[in-house]
Amino acid sequence: MELTTEKEPAGKARKEKDRVHVFAPATVANLVCGFDILGLALDEPGDEVIMERSDRPGVKLLKITGDDGRLPLDPAKNTVSACVQMLLKHLNREDVGVEIELHKHMPIGSGLGSSAASTVAGLFAINQLLGQPLTKQELLPFAMKGEELACGHGHADNVAPSLFGGITLIKSYEPLEVVSIPVPKSLYCSVVFPHVDVPTRAARQMIRSKIELKDAVVQWGNIAGLVSGLFMSDYGLIGRSMQDVLIEPVRAILIPEFYEMRQTAMAAGALGFGISGSGPSVFAFADNHPTASDITRQIVQHLQSKGIDSNGYVSAVNQQGPREL
Ligand code: HSE
Repeated sequence: MELTTEKEPAGKARKEKDRVHVFAPATVANLVCGFDILGLALDEPGDEVIMERSDRPGVKLLKITGDDGRLPLDPAKNTVSACVQMLLKHLNREDVGVEIELHKHMPIGSGLGSSAASTVAGLFAINQLLGQPLTKQELLPFAMKGEELACGHGHADNVAPSLFGGITLIKSYEPLEVVSIPVPKSLYCSVVFPHVDVPTRAARQMIRSKIELKDAVVQWGNIAGLVSGLFMSDYGLIGRSMQDVLIEPVRAILIPEFYEMRQTAMAAGALGFGISGSGPSVFAFADNHPTASDITRQIVQHLQSKGIDSNGYVSAVNQQGPREL
């Protein structure tokens, strides 16, 4: 696989560590028209992993916080520990023992790449602990395995932006080729998570597997328009391209007040609005921070007026991906 714009030096041996504390960002996948191929990283929220060496070989999951007891502590079933174990096997380092704490700071099943952020934090942490034997590009297929474990499909549009930061395009899955897309300077995201559960697995099952050519033509135009708009910092073109004729009409029914939220966002100055990943979170782009804050506030208020609790975020695009704390 190739990350077209940013090459890292191949795994230069660095000092191994005994303990690392890593943050990995939440993501907005699809960016409305780019189902499974476009995504971006957010500054907040995100998940944290604390990883410490132990004397006993093997991967142990000590505790998980912030998941309301929903995630498995069994190291073979949890995506974080399972991916770390896979990586150790690949590196022939099954002699290594680690203990993991996972601290979730975002809701599960929210459409914000919750499993992706945890998995990326875990993989980045073990790679740091071992002195960075692998590049980020080499970590990506392991993170995709984590997605497969979490929802039955190894899509990369959450894990790639969480791992590399910025806006990423999965140009192809076979062979895996990821392209980093430039982020316009004043692009901000409003993100709102309405408190309803939409598991990605279910939200994928409801999508039609065959599409009409006329719909495909509209979709191709929008994807090309969005990517061109991002390259040229053409905010008008970005907004006009944020239209999805394939997936959104099907998934919107799972999200309460979806079309009313769109109306609220557009009236408040959004460039465009849509579902974040498989939902129920929604997001909007704005070309300045105050407008993005306003959009988030107004959507949260609208939901509140309908008796629906939500979390609202305002974020620039996170350019860094995971980092050590
Ligand atoms: N592209 C994936 C989907 C993202 O829409 O199912 C899941 O967060």
